Amino acid sequence: MKNIEYKGLTFLFTVDNGFSFDARLNIRFKAGIVKNIGKELSAMGIKNVLIVTDPGVLKVKLHENLVTTLNQENIKFEVFSEVEPNPRDTTCEKAAEFAKELNVDAVIGIGGGSSLDTAKCVGFLMTNPGRVKDYDGSGKVKNEPIPIIAIPTTAGTGSEVTANAAITDTEKHIKMSVRSPKIIPHLAVLDPELLKTLPQHIAAFSAMDALIHAIESFLSRRATAFSDYFNLKAIELLSKYIRPFYAEPSNTEAAGNMLIGSMLAGLGISNTGTGNAHALGRVLGGSYDMAHGLACSVVFPYVLKFNAMAQPQKFVEIARAMDLKTEGLNEKEIGQKVVREIYELLRELNIPVKLSELNVTKESFNDMVKVAITNVAPNPRKTTEVDLVSILEEAF
Ligand SMILES: [Fe+2]
Repeated sequence: MKNIEYKGLTFLFTVDNGFSFDARLNIRFKAGIVKNIGKELSAMGIKNVLIVTDPGVLKVKLHENLVTTLNQENIKFEVFSEVEPNPRDTTCEKAAEFAKELNVDAVIGIGGGSSLDTAKCVGFLMTNPGRVKDYDGSGKVKNEPIPIIAIPTTAGTGSEVTANAAITDTEKHIKMSVRSPKIIPHLAVLDPELLKTLPQHIAAFSAMDALIHAIESFLSRRATAFSDYFNLKAIELLSKYIRPFYAEPSNTEAAGNMLIGSMLAGLGISNTGTGNAHALGRVLGGSYDMAHGLACSVVFPYVLKFNAMAQPQKFVEIARAMDLKTEGLNEKEIGQKVVREIYELLRELNIPVKLSELNVTKESFNDMVKVAITNVAPNPRKTTEVDLVSILEEAF
């Protein structure tokens, strides 16, 4: 096998394996950048937009600088602010109807992953017929959406660069996933000042979601040397800045690095999928109306422990990226150290590490794993329903 060595990292790009990686990268990153974004939108020919957001963003006026810059550039806008956590297909369709009435030429999502995912749906429903559920799955979006601009106000989902939108099917009560490179936002605007007012528990849940993305994507069966490159940098940035960011979300240096880390991890998961923490986290979130980052976090140490034997060298890489001291330890011990570090981190961020602390009942395990088992394909260790029950029991 021929190798191309990528200097500075220990993994190798292999010519025989190759890789494919989809992205549409137009990123603007700077503290206060939103204040000037109107000029760029004007240059894109945008004259009439719908802002898609949630009531929380409006309450603390996080959209104020966006409104000012749009006014300065004489860009017409209306605001749709009915996005809820775990956004519903009916909400996306209502926003899209509003966008059609207004005949907008672009959509701006500002908020957490829910607002960004809803904006993505508005973007493609403007140019593709039918309902959101018609596009559940991969590659069903045929026509290019109107321009989608994504402005995250949490450092978590990485949705500003991903090719998917996670939307609740209100008839079947399940989470759908619309996946298409066409719905990757045309412009991602990363402004650490927007994270200043984040409540600490949301900062913690979303930051852990980002770190779990980076680690699950790095360990994924679909990982490539190219996605590893983004994910290792994401693990390094997120684990370095997660504590100072949680301690003070208005620390713009920490917030900025968290935004970059979550964006890089988003590029990772968009190309590799996620592992068992997300397979279980999604169904826990849906069954118990739990915040996504919390639901993934509570099972994550136990999933990592389960996976350590599958990819021991990658756990060494994770430990190195997390700057853990590993002298004198063998691969197995380093894997255990990574698991312990994650466990301690969750404790420090005041995130529960036991399902019993979250009113989850053991009686629900069998039903939940029947859904979760359909999402374990990217996980590095072969997983059965029995394995998932064991993980949940250990997390209980
Ligand atoms: Fe996630």
